[in-house]
Amino acid sequence: MFADRVLSGMRPTGNLHLGHYHGVLKNWVELQQKYECLFFVADWHALTTHYDSPEIIEKNAIDMVIDWLAAGVDPSKAVLFIQSKVPAHAELFLLLSMMTPLGWLERVPTYKDQQEKLTEKDLSTYGFLGYPLLQSADILIYRANRVPVGEDQAPHIEFTREICRRFNHLYGKQSGFEEKAEAAIKKLGSKKSKLYRELRNRYQEQGIESALEEGKSLLNTQQNLSMGDKERLFGYLEGGGKMILCEPETLLTKASRMPGLDGQKMSKSYNNTISLREDPESIRKKIRTMPTDPARVRRSDPGNPAVCPVWQFHLIYSNDETCKWVQHGCTSAEIGCLDCKGPVIEKVLAELEPMRERARIYEEDPVLVRNIIADGCEKANQLAEDTMRDIRSAIGLNYS
Ligand code: TRP
Ligand code: SF4
Repeated sequence: MFADRVLSGMRPTGNLHLGHYHGVLKNWVELQQKYECLFFVADWHALTTHYDSPEIIEKNAIDMVIDWLAAGVDPSKAVLFIQSKVPAHAELFLLLSMMTPLGWLERVPTYKDQQEKLTEKDLSTYGFLGYPLLQSADILIYRANRVPVGEDQAPHIEFTREICRRFNHLYGKQSGFEEKAEAAIKKLGSKKSKLYRELRNRYQEQGIESALEEGKSLLNTQQNLSMGDKERLFGYLEGGGKMILCEPETLLTKASRMPGLDGQKMSKSYNNTISLREDPESIRKKIRTMPTDPARVRRSDPGNPAVCPVWQFHLIYSNDETCKWVQHGCTSAEIGCLDCKGPVIEKVLAELEPMRERARIYEEDPVLVRNIIADGCEKANQLAEDTMRDIRSAIGLNYS
C-alpha cells in the first residue's frame, strides 16, 4: 500500500573513515539508484549519550554530510536532512511514548550493553532509555518500509515493528471501519470482491502469506478505488483495522570487512582509521608504518600473511595477481614489507581521490552544503507532516 521508501540515519560522530565507507556509505550510494531514499543526521540521538558536550554537534553534523556527499551520496537522488530540523520527530516520539510499555524499552539489548560499555557516562537517563523509541519515530514518521542498518541496530528495527503493530492495533480501529470496508469491497465488483474475501479468509484463518500477497496485488491493480478505500481494504485484508503506520523491514548491511591499520576493526576509538578526506601524505605515512607479521623482524625472514594486517588490506583492494605476488613474495622473503605495502597505498589513494575532489567544492563554499541540507529538511518536513496529520487524527488530536 505504501511506496518503497528507504530511510537511515547516522549519529554525527566526527570524521567518517574507510570503515564507514565500506560498511555503510557504499550501500547508501547503491540504494539511492533503486529507491526513494532519506538519509539524516541523528543529532538528537547523539545528545542521548553526549548531552554534556553539545558544542561538537553542529560541526560534526555538517562535516558528516560533506563526507556523505564525498562518498557519492547524491542530493538530487536522496533527501539529506538533520533530525532536529524536523521537529515532528519529537512530536511522534512523545505520542508513541504514551503507549510504549516500559518493559519493552528496558528489554532492548543495546540498553544494558551500552550502559555497561560506556561506564564513563551516566546513562541512566530518560532520554537514553528512549533511544530506540526516538529511532522508531524517525522511521515511522516517513512510513519507511526499508531500513538499512548493521547487525547492532537490528533489535531497534524489531522494536519499531512492535511499536508499529501496537499503534495500528490501538488507533487503526475507527468507528465504522468494518462497515466502510464492507462497502468498499462491494465496489470491487462481484468477481473481485469474492476473490478478495477468499484471500482475506485464507490469510486470516490459515495464516497463508501468499494469500496476503495476492490480495495486495489484487488491490494494487484496482484503478477505480479511492485512496481511502484502498487503504481501508489493505488494512482489512491483514487485520481488523486501518494501517496508519507502515511496518519497516530491516535491510541488513553485511558487516564491513574493513580492518583498521592495526588489524582490529577500524574504529575511531582504536585510533586505527584512515579518514575519507585524509591528506595523501598522511595516508602514505600511516600505511608505511602499519604493523606487519611480528615474526618478520629482518628483511630476510619469511613472513606469514595470515597474521599480517597489510594482507587484510590486500584482500579488499588487490586482484588475484597481486595477492599471489604477496603470498609468494612474503613467505619466501623475496619482497620486503614496504614493497608489499606499495599497491595498497596506491589503491587506497585511488579510492579516496575522487572523494577529496567531490568534497573540495563544499569545503570551499560551505553555503552549498547548507543549502543542500536546508532543501532536504524542507522536503522531510513535508513528508513528516503528511503522516502526522493521519496520526493526530487517529489519536483524536485534530481539533482546533
Ligand atoms: N541508532 C542508529 C545508529 O546508531 C542511528 C539512527 C537513528 C537510525 N535513527 C535511525 C538508523 C533510524 C536507522 C533508522 O547507527
Ligand atoms: Fe605483511 Fe606483506 Fe610484510 Fe608479508 S610482506 S608481513 S604480508 S606486509
